[in-house]
Amino acid sequence: MEFASFILYALLLLQFSLALEINEKTMENDQDGHPSLDSSLNVFFKVTDLYLGKRMPIYFATDEDSTPTRLLSRKEADSIPFSLSKLPYLLEYFSFSNTSSQAKAMEITLKQCEQKSIVGEVKFCVTSSESMLEMTRGFFGSVKPNVLATRILSSNHALFQNYSFIEKPLEIYASKKVACHTMAYPYLVYYCHGHEGQMNRVFKVALGGENKERVEAVAVCHMDTSAWARDHVAFRILGGHPGSTPVCHVLPVDNLVWVG
Ligand SMILES: *[C@@H]1O[C@H](CO)[C@@H](O)[C@H](O)[C@H]1NC(C)=O
Ligand SMILES: *[C@@H]1O[C@H](CO)[C@@H](O)[C@H](O)[C@H]1NC(C)=O
Repeated sequence: MEFASFILYALLLLQFSLALEINEKTMENDQDGHPSLDSSLNVFFKVTDLYLGKRMPIYFATDEDSTPTRLLSRKEADSIPFSLSKLPYLLEYFSFSNTSSQAKAMEITLKQCEQKSIVGEVKFCVTSSESMLEMTRGFFGSVKPNVLATRILSSNHALFQNYSFIEKPLEIYASKKVACHTMAYPYLVYYCHGHEGQMNRVFKVALGGENKERVEAVAVCHMDTSAWARDHVAFRILGGHPGSTPVCHVLPVDNLVWVG
């Protein structure tokens, strides 16, 4: 899998794992008995959609759907190995059978965390708040970065609904950016990747739902998709092909973007 699509895959895996449960409970099958297109894929849009008044359906999982919400302390994190070679031990430790979906998810997460980064990109996984601070400090140097995240301002929001941009999307200019995605794992693990320059654009968007629900979202636009897989789900949703068009997506609630 290409690196860029792998990142998106991680994002989708997260949304997928959250959505699985929701789908089982709430999604209806269509007339032919096929499950409808997973609404959690409705996070992609075009850079030309970023204007005041634009309306589109977007899926946001709630906070409560993702169980772990706080990073472990370093002491706690260091007491559990975090390595693909220790997977058999970890499965026993967490009491997951080696054929379970949890085992598969842990394997994917550990593999991705151990994969080398490509030139010009920094990548790291963090399992503790201390390592998050150290790694971001290492990347941003003397610059103190700001952290951005999507926040749902209404308590009982519908997971999938039409939203409108109720303010002009605000681009956040920064020379360095790091996006951190939560990974499917028994405790909170962030997969972070970042770079310098304008390969990705970051926007703050104010969204108004149909029931007057409000979401302050962070959107990321990948300006160069030429390295993405041809069958990437974003192209299925937006049309186009690798390199033909930038792809934007809103960040799920528990993801972070550091800018500085
Ligand atoms: C799963 O575990 C069983 C028993 O612990 C072992 O015999 C089997 O080879 C394992 N399967 C895989 C795919 O690792
Ligand atoms: C969004 O609005 C369109 C057109 O009004 C409607 O067909 C669609 O069902 C709505 N989607 C959601 C998720 O509510």
